[in-house]
Amino acid sequence: MAGISDFAGRTAVVTGGASGIGFALAQRFLQEGMRVAIADVEQSALDRATAELSAHGEVMGLRTDVREVEEVQALADAVLAKFGRIDVVCNNAGVETGGSFLSIPGEAWRWVMDVNFFGVLNGCRVFLPILEANGGGHIVNTASVAAFNSGTATMTPYCASKFAVLGMSESLEIELRTAGSNVGVSLLAPGPVKTRMVDAERNRPADVPAATEPGRVAVMERLAATTAEIGLEPSAVADKVLDAIRANEFFVLTHPEMAQVGVQRRLDWMATGVPPAARQAGS
Ligand SMILES: NC(=O)c1ccc[n+]([C@@H]2O[C@H](COP(=O)([O-])OP(=O)(O)OC[C@H]3O[C@@H](n4cnc5c(N)ncnc54)[C@H](O)[C@@H]3O)[C@@H](O)[C@H]2O)c1
Repeated sequence: MAGISDFAGRTAVVTGGASGIGFALAQRFLQEGMRVAIADVEQSALDRATAELSAHGEVMGLRTDVREVEEVQALADAVLAKFGRIDVVCNNAGVETGGSFLSIPGEAWRWVMDVNFFGVLNGCRVFLPILEANGGGHIVNTASVAAFNSGTATMTPYCASKFAVLGMSESLEIELRTAGSNVGVSLLAPGPVKTRMVDAERNRPADVPAATEPGRVAVMERLAATTAEIGLEPSAVADKVLDAIRANEFFVLTHPEMAQVGVQRRLDWMATGVPPAARQAGS
C-alpha cells in the first residue's frame, strides 16, 4: 500500500492519548480533519484531554487499559459504533520503572512488559483485521531509542519491552508487505521528548512499588534534566509520524544518531568480543 494521502474524514485511534506524544498525535490528526478516539488509563487526564481536543473536531475519549485485550476490543467496538471506520491506529501508551537488576520486583517487570509490549500487541491483534476489512490503513507502534540501546543504567525492563516492540513490529511489517497487505506499519522510536514519561510511575498498579533506589532516582533526575534541555516538543514528533504514514515508512526516528549508535555498539561488540560501557539515559 502506498501510504495515506488524504486524512480528512478518516478515523484515528491513539492509546496513551491523554498526555505527551499521544495527545500531540491526536491534535495533529484533528488538524488534518480526522475524527479521533483517544484511549487512556488515567481517567482525569483523559477527561481533560477529551474536552480540550473536542474544541478542534470530532473526538471521543475512552478509558482503556491496554494491558487487557478485552478492553482494547471494547475500544475498537465503541469507535466503530460511533465513527463507522478506523484508518490509523497509534499503539502509543507506555510506562517506565526500574532499578538495579535484582532490586526490580517481578510485578514491576510484568507491568512494564504488559503495557509497553502486550499493550502494543493487543492493539495490533485487535485493529489489524479491522483495518484490512476497511480496505487499508496504518498502524504506528511506539517504541523508543531504547529499542536499539541496551545497557542504560536502571532501565532494563523498559529496554527489554521496547526491543520486543521492535522485533514484533519489524516482523509484522515484513509479513504484511510480503503478503501485499493494504495495511502499513511504522515504528516510532523517539529520543528525548518533553512529556510526563519521567513521571510514568503515577499510573503504576498497587502491587508495583515506587522505584526509590538512590542510583535509580539519580538516573531519572538526569533524564528529566536532559529532556528539559534537549527534548523535542511532542508536536514535532507528531509531524514526523504524519509524514511517515503518508510515505508508508517504517522507521520514525526523532534522533536517528541515538538509534544508530546502539546498533553500531552491538556490531562492534560482535566483531571484537569487547562489551560496551554502560549508557546514560538520554545520551
Ligand atoms: N518522552 C520521551 O522522551 C519518550 C522517548 C521514547 C519513547 N517514548 C514513548 O512514547 C510513548 C508515549 O509516552 P509519553 O512520552 O507521551 O509519556 P506520557 O506519560 O506523557 O504519556 C503516556 C500515556 O500513556 C498512558 N498509559 C499508561 N499506562 C496505560 C495503560 N495501561 N493503558 C492505557 N494508557 C496508559 C498514560 O496515562 C499517559 O497518558 C510511550 O510508549 C513512551 O515509552 C517517550
